[in-house]
Amino acid sequence: MDRIRIRGGRQLKGEITVSGAKNAALPLMVASMLSDKPLTLKNVPRLADISTMIQLLQQHGVEIQAAPGENGHSHGTTLTLCGSKITSTVAPYDIVRKMRASVLVLGVLLAREGEARVSLPGGCAIGARPVDLHIAGLRAMGAEIDIDGGYMVARAPKGLKGARYTFPKVSVGATENLMMAAALAKGTTVLANAAREPEIIDLAECLAKMGVPITGIGTETLTIEGAQQLKAATHTVVPDRIETGTYAMAVAMTAGDVELVGGRLDLMEAAAQTLRAAGVVMEKTNRGFRVTRANGLHGVDVMTEPYPGFPTDLQAQMMALMTRAEGASMITETIFESRFMHVPELARMGANVVVHGESALVRGVPKLRGADVMATDLRASVSLAIAALAAEGDTTLHRVYHLDRGFERLEEKLAACGADIERLKG
Ligand code: EPZ
Repeated sequence: MDRIRIRGGRQLKGEITVSGAKNAALPLMVASMLSDKPLTLKNVPRLADISTMIQLLQQHGVEIQAAPGENGHSHGTTLTLCGSKITSTVAPYDIVRKMRASVLVLGVLLAREGEARVSLPGGCAIGARPVDLHIAGLRAMGAEIDIDGGYMVARAPKGLKGARYTFPKVSVGATENLMMAAALAKGTTVLANAAREPEIIDLAECLAKMGVPITGIGTETLTIEGAQQLKAATHTVVPDRIETGTYAMAVAMTAGDVELVGGRLDLMEAAAQTLRAAGVVMEKTNRGFRVTRANGLHGVDVMTEPYPGFPTDLQAQMMALMTRAEGASMITETIFESRFMHVPELARMGANVVVHGESALVRGVPKLRGADVMATDLRASVSLAIAALAAEGDTTLHRVYHLDRGFERLEEKLAACGADIERLKG
């Protein structure tokens, strides 16, 4: 298993190009199964999760071609996906357990084929993560869904019908699943208390290009008219706001000076506001924005919330940053119940963090020291890399495959800005 070694103490200087968003690209790829015409997606990041989604879609019969991206800076890929014929309506356990986003095929297969058999994803390191809202919403649209042998067995013999569904809790994945099901359902679907993440907007805009009339994009009420026939379309994946915020925090951690090319502050206003309050300076440039730090870091309080609130996917990285701030920081995680797996690993590096229920109290320390640390999930692992950049001595990050799921060429991007970082193979 690969490891990453980081020797701390170097300031990051230069530029980093932001990749396309993993969490936008995954549902966009699934959307290709709605149509028998090709969907071309540009700026798709090269990540393990994208490869897993390619594998899943191919086994459903989608034909996929990959070509290098056009943008000289970005190493993204252009994918052309054509779902002219669906050859299987089963999403097997072996793929779904690797990547939860696989459950997004449920709504699409039901809408297009009238049936689906999709493995239940089970829990994961950050919490139980049920799929009850996906199921309830699809039932409201006329689906019959049973659980059998660990699978969701779904049928809609007469097709799905448009419905009004109010999410009892905001869910990104359930909103995406229902949006795609609604795209081919008969009549109008109204989704209330829908998620409003930029990745949802990206999916809505792509569906609109494919010929699905959608109103309310960017609001908590989406109205979707089911379409009979979809068109070929081309869409560019939105830049990754989580990768952007992660690098902004890494730069701030080292008191560096980096331009985040393609970074969009408008997609991360809550995080940007929090970072500014902590002493990070971010100024817009023609190509993105520049991150510097005027003086030291101050402790700030953070609570994760659905968009436009502070994202749970930046919570671990913010905690890493706060370990070196002056004063204390209260970090409250409201989205996932066990998303503090990074705390004991940060403690191995000398961080002072105490967890009380859903809150963690971080008292800034003058120094972190390198250590062997274990990645537990994607965002937790990158938080350890951020801490390592400012630690004295060497840190070895184990279980790097978590990082490879969601950060494209992390060590290359950081090394190009002067970080002392290398991947140790095997
Ligand atoms: C998406 O997960 C992201 N994944 C996650 O990113 C992200 O952390 C999360 O949204 C929140 O922003 C993808 O986009 C592929 P949810 P998702 O449904 O859709 C509960 C990463 O690191 N819930 O919005 O699974 C759920 O347990 C990943 O890239 C139900 O109770 O998240 C959670 O507490 C990690 N029942 C809350 O809602 C349901 O049926 C929000 O989850 C569905 C969700």
